[in-house]
Amino acid sequence: MILIKLGGSVITNKEKSLSARRKTIDNLATSLKKIDESMIIVHGGGSYGHYWSVKYDMHTKEKKYDLRGVAIVKNSMIELNKIVLDSLLKNKLNPYCFPPTGFMLGNKPISKKVKEIEKIAKTGLIPVTYGDALWYGQKKTYILSGDKIMTHLAKILKSRLSIFVLNEDGLYSDLKSKKLIYELNGERPLISENKKDVTGGMVRKVEEASKISKMGMNVFFVNGNKPERIVKAVKNRKFEGTLFRGKRNV
Ligand code: IPE
Repeated sequence: MILIKLGGSVITNKEKSLSARRKTIDNLATSLKKIDESMIIVHGGGSYGHYWSVKYDMHTKEKKYDLRGVAIVKNSMIELNKIVLDSLLKNKLNPYCFPPTGFMLGNKPISKKVKEIEKIAKTGLIPVTYGDALWYGQKKTYILSGDKIMTHLAKILKSRLSIFVLNEDGLYSDLKSKKLIYELNGERPLISENKKDVTGGMVRKVEEASKISKMGMNVFFVNGNKPERIVKAVKNRKFEGTLFRGKRNV
């Protein structure tokens, strides 16, 4: 089982509110079609969900946020999800839309539901889920990031590989020269915060990738603008990107 997170920064234009990068999504779909292993796709919010979360001051912390914001964030994620699903369908893949409300209870994943998603994926259908505004309980809601969903799914399904598809080649050891880190063996890279992002941008991705690799599973960061790299990562071929090598107790 492979988990693929399509980052909001690659599937949307983060500089422009509510704009999807349709051509990029189509190219990603064409590459995903070449993978013949069961997979689950998770996508982020980019200039859809993040745009509205910032407007309504909503974050990952469970709080009593403006209900109008909750409704609007949710609606915008449906809109982006539809664009992703349409592209997958057009490219002859069989997506199975699976909103996070279908497997989350409060801030915890429902194991039984997640295992059901695995069964669905094994038939060849491709479950597709996404980061969203979710009900927590006692009038509180929160923003669940797609990165966090990756950790929830990896933990329950022990996926062979988790791939975070980014708008960059991977993690850089130096932002100026863009010198790529090819492999991490448990060490924590230093990264700068992105304040515009309610779920923590790259910091969150590295945090979740580290958690997954500590559970013993490999994680790749790859550039979604070069989607053939995803196929290479899955097929264990030499590719450009950052590998968080799966290790226990590091
Ligand atoms: C965010 O999901 C979802 C919302 C803001 C509603 P992510 O945090 O996974 O989104 P990206 O990939 O960073 O854009």
